Amino acid sequence: MQVRFADRLPDGHYALVLPADRFDTDAVKGLGDGVEATLKRQRFDGDAGSAVELFLAAGTKRLLVVGTGKGAAPAAAAEKLGGTAAARLLTSGETHAAIDLTGLGYDADAAARVGLSAALRSWRYDLYHTKLKDKQKPTLKQVTIVGAGTGTRQRWEQRWQPVLEGVKLTRELVTEPANIIYPETFVERVRHLADLGIELEVLDGAAMKKLGMGALLGVAQGSVRDPRLLILRWNGGKKGEAPLAFVGKGVTFDTGGISIKPAQGMEAMKWDMGGAGAVVGAFKALALRKAKANIVGICGLVENMPSGNAQRPGDVVTTMSGQTVEVINTDAEGRLVLADALTYVQRNYKPKTIVDLATLTGAILVSLGHEFGGLFSPDEELVTQLLSAAEASGDKLWRMPLAEPFDRMIDSPIADMKNVGPREGGSITAAEFIKRFIDDGVRWAHLDIAGMAWSDKAGTTHEKGATGFGVRLLDQLVADTVEG
Ligand code: BES
Ligand code: MN
Ligand code: ZN
Repeated sequence: MQVRFADRLPDGHYALVLPADRFDTDAVKGLGDGVEATLKRQRFDGDAGSAVELFLAAGTKRLLVVGTGKGAAPAAAAEKLGGTAAARLLTSGETHAAIDLTGLGYDADAAARVGLSAALRSWRYDLYHTKLKDKQKPTLKQVTIVGAGTGTRQRWEQRWQPVLEGVKLTRELVTEPANIIYPETFVERVRHLADLGIELEVLDGAAMKKLGMGALLGVAQGSVRDPRLLILRWNGGKKGEAPLAFVGKGVTFDTGGISIKPAQGMEAMKWDMGGAGAVVGAFKALALRKAKANIVGICGLVENMPSGNAQRPGDVVTTMSGQTVEVINTDAEGRLVLADALTYVQRNYKPKTIVDLATLTGAILVSLGHEFGGLFSPDEELVTQLLSAAEASGDKLWRMPLAEPFDRMIDSPIADMKNVGPREGGSITAAEFIKRFIDDGVRWAHLDIAGMAWSDKAGTTHEKGATGFGVRLLDQLVADTVEG
């Protein structure tokens, strides 16, 4: 979808989107044609996300009045507006919508966000639908934002269009099934990032064996798909400044392995690479907007399968860090992948700060549902920074605890640790496991995004399906803490 900005309403045919916080604003009254009375009769009250559709000029012009809410923060109100308008018009038959912001007082950022959310909400992946009826196909091709202040186009091009492209990449990877996206093809699908100036390096299973990545390789060994470690580098910051590291869980399919999952709903485990997806999407956004920051990204890419060669419950593996792990449950594989990816990034890049993202536990859904990602970190400053980036980006987080008693729950009688604790506090013991692979002095946060990478219902800025969670969060974190 194209997003344009203009000073006045366009020529030709378009659907007019008029934001309003009441049924009797001056703009509504200015339309005449009984619009005010119609809105009143439909009990339009201007609540954010509410919308009334009607036709003007004897049915020739579609009007969509969208509620902006009263007293909402401009950025949030703007995104609600763009997303609501796009959702209503996407398959309406209209090809062009003009959203008239005149008189709303939106600054350049808020006005550009109207375009961002309209484009985000319109994103679909219809590649495998060969029989869509015309009525089901999206028709909306262009959104013109009218009456936005100076600087809006610049704000769009320099910030939100890059973020849009990043989120789209993440959603594509998360949506693709596991017969299409597996470790090798995940890497191929993101190779084009090199054209943006991102350095890519790829390790295969043999290279990881030389490095002693026994935990990651133990997960991979049941699959015919060779694993990959994908390393991305963006050097937009000061020369020699220690990088910020993003580490993503990239399990391209999680059957559970020998500790196999129930059949019901297992297809969801194609998106168990949502953490890795967010890392590459964030890189795309940051490179497109030429972020002034040094960033390293690591994606641990494996497929977790049962087979005659799969690892067994009770196996002991030696991680790259030298620590040993008793694999009690082969379905607790994400932490094993992250362990070696984290050691690799610390040994090779000496990052000051690490944020890992992983669809790690079902337990985080029990705690936080689909409303917040779980944030685990012992670093108060990093917690504050991430919560603030979460608030500003809309990728919401809620802090969860880390504490000694949970660490003791993963001690093993035969190895340095086991890969699962008791059922209770399952996402906390998972975080404590990861913490054992973080060197002293490194600022670290773990984000459990199992409830956030995919949504069974549409939201303001996404259709049902892949959300792209994490991309906007990481982009905002870089903007606030490295560039800001
Ligand atoms: N990928 C799953 C976690 C998950 C569950 C993500 C539901 C998204 C939706 C992870 O690898 C897993 O299987 N975790 C186990 C851990 C358990 C065996 C300790 C879980 O949460 O059940
Ligand atoms: Mn699992
Ligand atoms: Zn998993």
